[in-house]
Amino acid sequence: MTRKILLTAALPYANGAIHLGHLVEYIQTDIWTRFQKMRGHECWFVCADDTHGTPIMLRAEKEGITPEQLIERVHAEHSRDFAGFHVAFDNYYTTHSDETRHYSEDIFTKLKAAGLIEIRSIEQYYDPVKQMFLPDRFIKGECPKCGTKDQYGDACESCGAAYAPTDLKNPYSAVSGAQPVLKSSDHYFFKLSDPRCQDFLRQWTQQEERLQPEAANKLQEWLGAPGENKLTDWDISRDAPYFGFEIPGAPGKFFYVWLDAPIGYMGSFKNFCDRKGLDFDEFWGKDSKAELYHFIGKDILYFHALFWPAELAHAGYRTPTKVFAHGFLTVDGAKMSKSRGTFITAESYLTQGLNPEWLRYYFAAKLNGSMEDIDLNLEDFTQRVNSDLIGKYINIASRAAGFIAKRFDGKLQREHVIARFKAELPGLMEAADEIAGYYEGRDTARALRRVMALADQINQYVDRNQPWVLAKQEGQDAKLHEVCTLLINAFRLLTIYLKPVLPKLAQRAEEFLNVAPLHWADAGHLLPISHPINPYEHLMQRIDAKQIDALIAANRESLEPTAVAPAPSPGIPLRVTPEPHSPQRHAQHQQATEDKVQAQTSPVEPAISIDDFSKVDLRIARIADAQHVEGADKLIRLTLDLGEGDTRNVFAGIKSAYDPAQLVGRLTVMVANLAPRKMKFGLSEGMVLAASDTDGKSPGLFLLSPDSGAQPGMRVK
Ligand code: MSP
Ligand code: ZN
Repeated sequence: MTRKILLTAALPYANGAIHLGHLVEYIQTDIWTRFQKMRGHECWFVCADDTHGTPIMLRAEKEGITPEQLIERVHAEHSRDFAGFHVAFDNYYTTHSDETRHYSEDIFTKLKAAGLIEIRSIEQYYDPVKQMFLPDRFIKGECPKCGTKDQYGDACESCGAAYAPTDLKNPYSAVSGAQPVLKSSDHYFFKLSDPRCQDFLRQWTQQEERLQPEAANKLQEWLGAPGENKLTDWDISRDAPYFGFEIPGAPGKFFYVWLDAPIGYMGSFKNFCDRKGLDFDEFWGKDSKAELYHFIGKDILYFHALFWPAELAHAGYRTPTKVFAHGFLTVDGAKMSKSRGTFITAESYLTQGLNPEWLRYYFAAKLNGSMEDIDLNLEDFTQRVNSDLIGKYINIASRAAGFIAKRFDGKLQREHVIARFKAELPGLMEAADEIAGYYEGRDTARALRRVMALADQINQYVDRNQPWVLAKQEGQDAKLHEVCTLLINAFRLLTIYLKPVLPKLAQRAEEFLNVAPLHWADAGHLLPISHPINPYEHLMQRIDAKQIDALIAANRESLEPTAVAPAPSPGIPLRVTPEPHSPQRHAQHQQATEDKVQAQTSPVEPAISIDDFSKVDLRIARIADAQHVEGADKLIRLTLDLGEGDTRNVFAGIKSAYDPAQLVGRLTVMVANLAPRKMKFGLSEGMVLAASDTDGKSPGLFLLSPDSGAQPGMRVK
């Protein structure tokens, strides 16, 4: 029976690059989609960029472009990255679309009619300079619990405490540096606490296999015991200025993320249906018989398993068949880190020339359908891919192909080999159902273990029969032909089993095998007699450990300039390798900048004693504000915060390289004891440090930043 299946993966935010953590999700959803398609089901995989919100609005402003321009650029970048990893969406759309707007309004109107929307006035921090309400992440201050400075408005990175922005001590706006004020405004709420939602969710979340057991337990915790009312209403609106959809009948109020982001699933699919002539209601209508699955990370389970189904059910739509949550990616056992170089973008992985299918294979070998975190252990990655894919799988083809080409005119055995095949390689064809079961259950780790056990079995057959020995013996032609024919058939079966994970490799294998694109059902038969195959070309390279080192180096954001020359002595130019801020910028500009800087750095100054050096009082400073200076074409006026109420006014000649808006909130290094200097524009009370070439005129100007964790006022020595 053909199933109708609609799959989604979470919509990535349009304000950042796709990284390997994201790919855990998109790759696994893609594998599942490809598997279902190979099984012959009608299966669609849709996604989109999550484009709305304050961060995107502010980022566009910083870059001096409109939010529409920003999201369009990011859409192209994301699409490129996904295509690079062979993530084949049927539609990759945007939430900033008429379709999403339509369903957002529709759902809101229906929830309102059902009495599930309420307006309440709430007090929030407001930035009087920027004239906007501040999201929690844009308010910083001292942790109310441990006193650590520069903590976000929702939680402390130092002690882990969670709190409200109003609990922060000495709060300031990360947008303007100004002290925020409390201001009240009307907000729209979705009444998740309404008994109708509670009752519905209690029953929905505990239905058979809706959620993984760990997820169902979490939900039970969030819902509380029957009779207990633990769910709180959800604030679904934000005030202008905001980039998003205005709420109908509420000028200046916009739908907040969770009332448009998941609706982007519907918007993307609607857009697809209109182009393909499919019936949207067959998938989303209240009585839909189609299956609907959302793949998500565990961090957004709350929204997808509580908010979303409650919203859909009370607006007259179907709810998801299942929600599949996965864990987070760690690299070498730790959270991805920019300073360690393990915060790896999809783009840098590809531009460093690594094969995307290595990563697909490795992730698949680790994913088992649970919510556990998965670790990318770089040594294990290299070893596993080389031993499984090259050593076990690819080898089978390369060992047999040459003999078929040279000795048998490129054709397989003229007689049927099925009986021999089943006798020599028992279970290889029959494993198809078992492996399909593992894929269906999203236990790709188990599926691949089974496939590799089959590969071992095939390699043992090779060793038993030693085709290279047969080839040298008189009168063994028929035997050699049979062994090679069996091996080519065995390779074809493994290719079917691996195809959801390795689509490009499978495509090249299909060309070599001279067959039409393989479906799952093709595992039920072998190649026809005398089937001609194509000359073998190497199908996949091994991973070289050096490539991994280069990848890490390319992603490492070391913020200290690296001395490449040996201990610098007078007269030897000190080469400074600039390490620009973002990994993307890194990949694109590294080479060019490096060449230029190496050519133009100045000779090192004569030696000084440590006492001379310690006269310079270097401090970490937070750029609390940055402004253009009227009449000055090189200067930016910086307000530097050294902590404990010590602020300095500094004029910095960095206008050619930085936009003031981009600097606010950033930490840098300043000379704190430089004698104040009177300038045309005012008093300059110090100096910030930046790297540049000799003449300081070329665009290469790089403000120093400390590694994260440094606090304003700390001494640098
Ligand atoms: N925009 C929201 C989702 C809205 S869905 C209606 C969002 N975006 S995100 O870009 O932060 O994340 C997209 C998906 O990638 C999420 O499911 C998230 O859990 C997943 N991951 C992001 N970082 C991850 C890791 N480091 N590891 C594994 N998955 C991760 O959330
Ligand atoms: Zn704290």
